[in-house]
Amino acid sequence: MLIAGNWKMFKGPAEAGAFCRELRDADLPDDVDVVVCPPYVSLAAAAQALAGTEIGVFAQSCHWDREGAFTGEISAAMLKELGVYGSLVGHSERRLYFGETDETVARRSAAALAEGLHVIACVGESEQERDAGETDAVLRRQVSVLESDENLVIAYEPVWAIGTGRTATPEMARQAHETIKEILDVPVLYGGSVKPDNAAELLAQPGVDGALVGGAALTVDSFVAICRSPS
Ligand code: 13P
Repeated sequence: MLIAGNWKMFKGPAEAGAFCRELRDADLPDDVDVVVCPPYVSLAAAAQALAGTEIGVFAQSCHWDREGAFTGEISAAMLKELGVYGSLVGHSERRLYFGETDETVARRSAAALAEGLHVIACVGESEQERDAGETDAVLRRQVSVLESDENLVIAYEPVWAIGTGRTATPEMARQAHETIKEILDVPVLYGGSVKPDNAAELLAQPGVDGALVGGAALTVDSFVAICRSPS
C-alpha cells in the first residue's frame, strides 16, 4: 500500500521542512509506503528533513533530457542529486494547463525510470469523457503509451473528482483499476478527493493499491489519518 501526498503549488521551503519534521515523528504504519511531492523549490528542505527515514520525496514532474535549453524544466538527474526518490508525471493539471500530452508524459516517465527514479504516472478521464462513455478508451490510450517497469506506479485520478469533493464510487474505482491493470501489470493508486473519512472504503477495493492525495495531504493530521486508514 502506497499513500502519496501531492502538494501541488503549496508550501515553500520553510513550511515544507516544518511539515516533514512533524511527519517524521508521526506514528505511521510500517506496512504503508509514504511519499510526499512538494514543489521543486521545497524538495531540498523535504529531503533533508526526511533523510534516514522510509518516507520518500517525489517531484511533481521532470524533463526527459539530462540537460539542455529547456527554460523552466528540471531533469531527473538534477532531482537525484537532491536526494529525490521519484517523480509524478502527467498529472491532469499539467495536461490541462501546461500542454502535457500522452507523448510528453511517456517521455518524462521513461527518462525518470532510466535515471533510476520511481514514477507515479497519472491518468484519468474528464467528466465529459465519462458522460460520453469514453472512460475505458481514454484510460487505454493514456496507459498504453507507458512502458512497464518495476519502479512504475499508475495513479487513476478521474479529473471530475480532483479538488471537487466528489469521489469515484468504489465500484467506478475498481473498474478503472481493472482496465489499467489489463494493460500494465503495475500497482494502481486512486486519487480524487481522498479524505480521512472515505479513504478506508476506497483502499479496500480490489486492485486499489494506494492513494494519491491532494488537499487532504496538506495538513499532517489528515495526511497521517489517511496513511493509517488501511489498517
Ligand atoms: P484532491 O485530493 O485535492 O482532490 O487532489 C487529488 C490530486 O489531484 C492528487 O494528485
